Amino acid sequence: MSIALAKNELKVKPDLIAKLKTKSAQIGIIGLGYVGLPLAVALAAEDFPITGVDLSKQKVEQVNSGDSYISDVASARLADAVENKRLSATTDLGRLADLDVVVICVPTPISRSKTPDLSYVVRAAEDVARHIHNGQLIVLESTTYPGTTEEVVLPLLERSGLKVGQDFYLAFSPERVDPGNKNFSLRNTPKVIGGVTPQCTAVASLLYGFVADEIIEVSSPQVAETTKLFENVFRNVNIALVNELTILCRKMGISAYEVVEAASTKPFGFMRFNPGPGVGGHCIPVDPYYLAAKAKEFDFHSKFIESAGEVNENMPYFVADLVAEALNQHGKATKGSKVLILGVAYKKDINDVRETPAVRVIKSLKEKGATVIYNDPYVETINVNETLMVSKPLSGKLLNSADCTVILTNHSSYDYREIVRESRLVVDTRAATKDIKNNRAKIVRF
Ligand SMILES: NC(=O)c1ccc[n+]([C@@H]2O[C@H](COP(=O)([O-])OP(=O)(O)OC[C@H]3O[C@@H](n4cnc5c(N)ncnc54)[C@H](O)[C@@H]3O)[C@@H](O)[C@H]2O)c1
Repeated sequence: MSIALAKNELKVKPDLIAKLKTKSAQIGIIGLGYVGLPLAVALAAEDFPITGVDLSKQKVEQVNSGDSYISDVASARLADAVENKRLSATTDLGRLADLDVVVICVPTPISRSKTPDLSYVVRAAEDVARHIHNGQLIVLESTTYPGTTEEVVLPLLERSGLKVGQDFYLAFSPERVDPGNKNFSLRNTPKVIGGVTPQCTAVASLLYGFVADEIIEVSSPQVAETTKLFENVFRNVNIALVNELTILCRKMGISAYEVVEAASTKPFGFMRFNPGPGVGGHCIPVDPYYLAAKAKEFDFHSKFIESAGEVNENMPYFVADLVAEALNQHGKATKGSKVLILGVAYKKDINDVRETPAVRVIKSLKEKGATVIYNDPYVETINVNETLMVSKPLSGKLLNSADCTVILTNHSSYDYREIVRESRLVVDTRAATKDIKNNRAKIVRF
């Protein structure tokens, strides 16, 4: 790889190569969220001067005061980068004109009808296009459908009259961050890069080589875009498979977790996925629809993506029914019962509630007539159906006041023994209580 890199580097504007090699390249990150902020801090720690650009005044102020709002970025690390004048944030898009490198990390949501919403990417690309200049590298990191970089972003940039591969460089490199994962970070997760031309790939690889130990060059942005979507479809489909098994096991009166634990002892040919109340976050519930939308352009229907979506989206309702059934077994109607939800973040030890299945569980329980309250040490408030709910401080009294405690997120900081001891009835969707004796059928588990 290094020989190819060197050969292609020769054809890249020497100024940009020199600036990257001497770490004097001015780097801008558009979008300082879960993806952009960790990247900005990592590049700043390598001594690059970083300008973070975000539309949110609040985020910009927080960054500039060294106050992190992303669990994976320690405030001390952020403050360090700001104090050392390696990182500053702004809402001023005019600053893009001064930058040698621009990395776009803006959201790519789906609409209510599950179609890709590229408006953030288009707006960011238009802003870059307004200030594009000779010798600039632009990288798109937002997860998106195959073809976005070349069919959507490139034409906007080339309106300037500049030519990709000669005057400026454009690549797609997906972010693969797993929020809250203590073992894998930007540094030790191989970085996939697909440039529009070999020169684009070479210069983007040079940049990411400073923050990632391994670079995987692929032949085009489209391959890189599809790689990212395939990774998330793989997860979504496998989670759906284990969730479907959970529903079947419930009918058969056996524990899905026990089946999964036993199956996981096979040393080859099996990969473990755990059942849960549904999928959440910005990626798994969203990204598969980006691939499905592209597939439709070819009159192709991805059955796996559609079925997985259906199973996973049904899980919160399955959980709400399970709670109703458990209350019933304990002689209580759901209507009028008080249900305490533990954990509303979509997975443990993080504060992200985007697309969290907790919202659907709460909504469904409320529709059944329950009074629902919640506790989450990471999430102070959550919006359910335009109503703001506030996390209640967890105590034995609170646990005891509820007719049923529902564990939706298995945060590590919870004391599950105490939760079981103090609760009247527990529905555990995460096997958080698997080692606790189930006296008098107090716990309902998957
Ligand atoms: N969160 C993850 O774990 C994760 C992992 C891999 C990939 N991704 C992908 O990365 C992309 C970004 O996701 P995220 O989780 O960081 O989103 P986020 O919502 O946390 O952050 C995006 C930021 O972009 C800002 N923004 C939006 N439009 C802008 C514009 N035109 N100019 C400047 N700032 C703008 C927003 O204010 C926000 O702060 C998405 O495509 C997502 O699918 C996310």
